[in-house]
Amino acid sequence: MEKILAAQEFLKSKGIVNPQIGVILGTGLGNLFVKEIEDPLFVPYDVIPHFPVSTVETHHGKLIFGKINGVNVLAMQGRFAYYEGYTMQQVTFPVRVMKALGVQKLLISNAAGSLNPQWSKGEMMVIEDHINLLPDNPLRGPNLDEQGPRFPDMSAPYDATMNEHLMNIGEDLGINMRKGVYAAVLGPNLETRAEYRFLKKIGADAVGMSTVPEVIVANHCSIPCCAISVLTDDCNPEHLQPIDISEIIAIAGKADPLLTKLFTGLIQQLKD
Ligand code: HPA
Repeated sequence: MEKILAAQEFLKSKGIVNPQIGVILGTGLGNLFVKEIEDPLFVPYDVIPHFPVSTVETHHGKLIFGKINGVNVLAMQGRFAYYEGYTMQQVTFPVRVMKALGVQKLLISNAAGSLNPQWSKGEMMVIEDHINLLPDNPLRGPNLDEQGPRFPDMSAPYDATMNEHLMNIGEDLGINMRKGVYAAVLGPNLETRAEYRFLKKIGADAVGMSTVPEVIVANHCSIPCCAISVLTDDCNPEHLQPIDISEIIAIAGKADPLLTKLFTGLIQQLKD
């Protein structure tokens, strides 16, 4: 808690006051969203007390604070993945700092593989529920009583109202929005055919290496949240093609304009 408060105090002193909506931008996503932020204030992670520093070159590593449609938005460009070697507490530290700063809602994006053969690359899935296959949990250890309970409820980890808004905004924009279950795996390797078969069997529609720790902590500290997966590759175990991270990033980049419209549209709706 001391570390959280130190980071919060520092960010306040830099001018991050009264952020209403927090946004976590995933791999290859968010360049356009960041451009929508008016009068942006940039704070690189490496100057924030106790903030982990991102190592993956595709992650930029800064907070951006400013307004979108008159709403104070605090965006994270570059997130921390467990496979990079951070602890779960480090991965989710920014969410706890957002809570301390007063963030009321959290929007998350990620790149994920599609397990549904009816869906195609480049489409977007609103996450309705998740399966945590990560080998650790950010709530392990002493409970942070100041922020939430020992055994948080997870009956509805993604906010139904925000999800409905996202589906409607997508429909209005003519986007073929999908809805489904996201499974979080450790990575950093992609999955084998047998693993994709397994993931399909246990009920996952998409698979990725992030988001779930942040969502668990958002639920723990009572920040309603929503998340969108950009489906960057087809994980069809019967016809699996080799895939390269650069392809994943390229597909994510192509989806960036639509993702930006979904998030800015949602921010507008939440204000109304
Ligand atoms: N598996 C895991 N993570 C991913 C994938 C995938 O197929 N695609 C994008 N992130």
